[in-house]
Amino acid sequence: MPKRYLIANWKMNLPPEGLETYMRVVGTAPVADILMVVAPPFPYIAAAHGLRHGHVAVGAQNCADQPSGAFTGEVSPGMLRGLGAIYAVVGHSERRTVYGESDALISRKLALAIATGLTPVLCIGEDLKVREAGHAARFLADQVKAVTSPALESADVIVAYEPIWAIGTGRNASGAMCAETTAEIRDAIGRFWPARHAGGSLLYGGSVTPDNVADLVSNGHIDGFLVGGASLDSARFLAIHRAMTAG
Ligand code: PGA
Repeated sequence: MPKRYLIANWKMNLPPEGLETYMRVVGTAPVADILMVVAPPFPYIAAAHGLRHGHVAVGAQNCADQPSGAFTGEVSPGMLRGLGAIYAVVGHSERRTVYGESDALISRKLALAIATGLTPVLCIGEDLKVREAGHAARFLADQVKAVTSPALESADVIVAYEPIWAIGTGRNASGAMCAETTAEIRDAIGRFWPARHAGGSLLYGGSVTPDNVADLVSNGHIDGFLVGGASLDSARFLAIHRAMTAG
């Protein structure tokens, strides 16, 4: 069975003052077979790590593709690991579209994250135009294929299906659409990645809330969620955990 995850992606949000309460509240989640991860902005990672309660781990929202050197503004996987992060989101659509990250860059980030001992959470997802044209399956397969790192031979990668049209829009994919699309993604992983990844964890992200999680859990054929907006409130994030365990 793939591991199940619930990951909070704060993006560039929340002041640091609320961190202690947030970690305490989220840490009250009852022990379940769900790994909870909080990915705050970089400057909070060390504090978040120190404030962990319960079964919550800390992750980063991004990482550099180089271990060190003259790369102004970048943060290496080794630095993040040193602060206590054990996961790193790689290739989020906001990185791809707003900051122009290419598949080649994302592949390097993924390889270095793995080499450094971080578990990457690779995000893939189509935009509305691609979805409406009926090309989502091919587009997603191409995104999977584009990650060509030899590091895939040796390590776990979590894949998050995050359709761009669902991120921050209040319009989530239904459980049925998730099931269909994740089957297509699994097929692509089977074709393009080493066999060991065939049964790996596959998450969904995009406007997940406590209210729509039941349908996604029962019909979505997924192993958890990457949550943006609804993760900013610890009680709402906890409610998603509750809905996952209730199903
Ligand atoms: P959202 O963001 O839950 O606010 O849609 C998800 C994400 O971008 O990871």
